[in-house]
This record gives sequence, structure tokens and C-alpha cells, in this order.
Amino acid sequence: MKKTTMIALSVAVMTSMAFGAQNMKEKTASANGKKNKGEIAAVVKTGNAASQLLLKTLGGNLKKHMKAGGPTDALEFCSMKAAELTAKVDNQLGKNVSVKRVTLKPRNPANEATGDEKAVLEALETLHANHVRLPRHLVEKTQSGYKYYKPLLINKPVCLKCHGSNIDPALKAKIDKTYPTDKATGYKMGDLRGAIVVTIKQ
Ligand code: HEC
Repeated sequence: MKKTTMIALSVAVMTSMAFGAQNMKEKTASANGKKNKGEIAAVVKTGNAASQLLLKTLGGNLKKHMKAGGPTDALEFCSMKAAELTAKVDNQLGKNVSVKRVTLKPRNPANEATGDEKAVLEALETLHANHVRLPRHLVEKTQSGYKYYKPLLINKPVCLKCHGSNIDPALKAKIDKTYPTDKATGYKMGDLRGAIVVTIKQ
């Protein structure tokens, strides 16, 4: 019973985030409804493109370094370059569009979700814990435009080398040195790791 209530609650939170409480009211006006639908489709298109570009850039580089020098080399790449590459992808997008990764358990404290982003991740976490299949993306109406979220799961065994429970001790020591407040360990396959957030200003 409690579980069901929790799911209903999270779905309600997410629905109101996806469409905006105000927009729900406006839905009665069909002209507005149509406009919103078109806008949301455009947001999804932009969000998909931006998140794919980020995933490709980070994932491609991670793979290259894992292959060349194993997890230690890849760790160095991640810690030195992840933020820089994210900023580079961000710069390639239009000036009204920005992209980043957020999480409830950050390795890099700069990636910690706060405010509305934290609320969305918490709602996703509750759904995930209740075995609800997560949507591929969510759209939130904000005061200045929209936010597109793409949930990020621990979807490859390689993620566990740096985010799992049995991290190689030498690697773990390096992680702890670079990230003394690291919270991004202890994950299992299929866990929700965070989300890519694409912010679109209008
Ligand atoms: C070689 C080690 C390594 C591997 C493998 C790895 N990561 Fe990470 N991950 C890191 C490091 C280091 C950071 C912090 C990067 C920074 O400083 O911005 C990080 C950060 C992240 C973040 C940003 C949030 C945060 O905690 O700072 C996400 C999301 C993430 N990793 C997901 C994944 C996923 C999903 C995989 C598997 C596809 C993966 N990682 C594989 C080392 C790794």
C-alpha cells in the first residue's frame, strides 16, 4: 500500500514537472495546447541531440583510454578531462542551450544535483527502486524555458571498475586522493547513476 502511494506520488511529481502545473490548466485552451506540444517536441529534439553528443564525447574518450592504459589511465582522463570536455560540448551548442551531468551521489562535487534537479532525480530514484521502467527522457517547464533530463544508468560492467563495490585498491586510492568527498561508489549494474540535464532558455 505504502509502495503504491509512493509511486503515485512520484508520478504526480514528475507529471507536474513534465508539463508544469500551470500548463495543465492551460491545456483546456487548445491553441495553447498545440503550441506547447510543438515546443516540447522541439525541446526533446534539442535534448536528444545535446545528450547524445555529450555521451559520445565522454564515452568515446573513456573507451579509448581504458583500451590504451586500463582503468588508471582512464581515471586520469576522467578526472582531468570530463569537466573540460563537457564544457567543450556545451560551447558547441547554441547559446540558449547548455548541457551537464548531475547526480545525487557525486564524485565531482560540481555535479551534485540541487533544487528542481535534485527533486527530479529523487523522483526517478523512487520509481527505479519500485521497479518502474524509467522514461528515456523527461521535460520540465521552468521559468526561463525548459529542462530536458536523460536518466543515466550504470549500464556497462566497465562503469563498476570506478563506481562499483570492488574497486582495485590502487585505483581506489587515486580516486580518494583526487575526490576526497567521493560518494560515487557502491553501485550495481542497472542502478540509476544520475542524469544528463539539457537546459533550454527561451
Ligand atoms: C576509469 C574510471 C571511470 C569509469 C570506468 C567510469 N567513470 Fe564515471 N566518473 C569517473 C570520474 C573520475 C568522475 C568525475 C569526473 C569529474 O571530475 O567531472 C566520474 C563522474 C561520473 C558522472 C558525473 C557525476 C559525478 O559523480 O561526478 C557520471 C554520471 C558517471 N561518472 C557515470 C559513469 C557511467 C555510467 C560509467 C559507465 C559507462 C562510468 N561513469 C564509468 C570515473 C569513471
